[in-house]
Amino acid sequence: MALEAGGIIILDYGSQTAQLIARRVRELSVYAVLLPYTATREQAQQAVPGFCGVILSGGPLSVYEANAPRLPDWVLESGVPVLGICYGMQLLTQRLGGKVAGAARREYGMTALEVACPVALFDGLDAAQTVWMSHADRIEQPPPGFDILATSASAPYAAIGDLERGLFGVQFHPEVIHTPHGPAMLRNFVIGVCQAQTGWTPENFIEATVASIRDQVGSGRVLLGMSGGVDSAVAGELIHRAVGDQLVPVFINHGMLRQGEADLVVQAARALDWDLVAVDATEEFLDALHGVTDPEQKRVIVGATFARVFEREAARLGTLDWLAQGTIYPDVIESAGTGRPGAERIKSHHNVGGLPDHLKTRLVEPLRDLFKDEVRAVGEHLGLPDSLVWRQPFPGPGLAVRCVGEVTWERLETLRAADAIFTGALDAAGLLRRGTAQAFAMLLPVRSVGVMGDNRTYDEVIVLRAVTTDDFMTADWARLPDDLLARVSSRIVNEVPGVNRVLYDISTKPPATIEWE
Ligand code: XMP
Repeated sequence: MALEAGGIIILDYGSQTAQLIARRVRELSVYAVLLPYTATREQAQQAVPGFCGVILSGGPLSVYEANAPRLPDWVLESGVPVLGICYGMQLLTQRLGGKVAGAARREYGMTALEVACPVALFDGLDAAQTVWMSHADRIEQPPPGFDILATSASAPYAAIGDLERGLFGVQFHPEVIHTPHGPAMLRNFVIGVCQAQTGWTPENFIEATVASIRDQVGSGRVLLGMSGGVDSAVAGELIHRAVGDQLVPVFINHGMLRQGEADLVVQAARALDWDLVAVDATEEFLDALHGVTDPEQKRVIVGATFARVFEREAARLGTLDWLAQGTIYPDVIESAGTGRPGAERIKSHHNVGGLPDHLKTRLVEPLRDLFKDEVRAVGEHLGLPDSLVWRQPFPGPGLAVRCVGEVTWERLETLRAADAIFTGALDAAGLLRRGTAQAFAMLLPVRSVGVMGDNRTYDEVIVLRAVTTDDFMTADWARLPDDLLARVSSRIVNEVPGVNRVLYDISTKPPATIEWE
């Protein structure tokens, strides 16, 4: 049976936390996909054959608005259990003959929940729970056949259910961390009520994916661009396990990688017994960037040079039948759009431009179904080194966009040394894997006066940037310990020649972005 069978469908009504619901369900080893609320029965069946439950996400609109997203007929017709969260609950209530009304004021934040009926969703949980609410509308009268399962001070119908039909609604958000027992509630629904299959594990994923790559690729050769990041490494190892040396991994070193990164890729490939094609194109990239300071121009030049070098290598390597990419599930969701009201977003895939057309249409994308944390779990099961599996995201144009101003080899070396001191200290403090989503150094195109010993200096400025974020669309600056920052600052000015000042960036995104260029 397919690994996806017997999983859960999540319909996206536009909530910021819709993706989180899918991640929480998958943490139960149950396959879940996020589909637009406009999905047809056939699309649902195709995405999750024999799905055994549906979750309706929250959303920003009111069910009374003229263009409010609706509940597709197939959801109730399919007879599987349904859990409506927030907007999803209101939708279910409205459809089944209950009443939804606007609340006098929005309820937002942590709320005390009193469980009235400790079965189904609340099986095994204490009567007093803390949950996270964020809603304006509320249920005034549940549909016929529904019982009150839980109440809160301002929401008498905080959770309702028709136990016989397996239909549930919760006004709060079980998927967010501020609902401490949310995972148990979702487990009760997914495993207890829906009786979903629990086969979605890294081991099973590896086995099924290796078999399907073998089927797809046959005797063809597969070109893979290695970036040094975790996605391309995991995709590569899955393909290597499937078809061995039919994998042709190409690593283009553009000279703007972090300290030790190029060696890491080469050593990892060797340890995995890959026949890596490593190309050092540093000079070509630096020549192309010579004298360029405009951020957009830098990006365009790096992109175009990358495509040129990659295509040249591909041509040199002879017939290549497939192009492998480390596309992951959030990219797929973003490209397709999941029906967020008024917010279709298209993200173009980078690195594909400039390649021969026949390769662009024959893609191998073994990670299309995985969230980033699942990619890491698969990477660990495949035995990839920790340093690769836990690598933080790194922009395609590399240090070109962190060397603010002109990109020269000397400036890159200064930046690399400072970055290594900063990230090394964070790693030692356990703040690189957890605690920061991204942390790095930047070099500014200004000099400042300083004093070292008895001498005046006029040297460069390093900025440290560390952020916390779930989705990289918004971010907060990381509150790093003072003593760590003090140590890092002192080491950088003492150990990195030409730097006499270190700043820490305390800007949020928005209005700033994570990178400076
Ligand atoms: P910003 O600076 O827009 O960055 O807040 C958001 C996230 O995207 C990464 N980033 C890139 N990743 N190619 C990439 O693959 C790029 O050109 C690129 N530019 C920014 C950035 O590091 C952060 O994680």
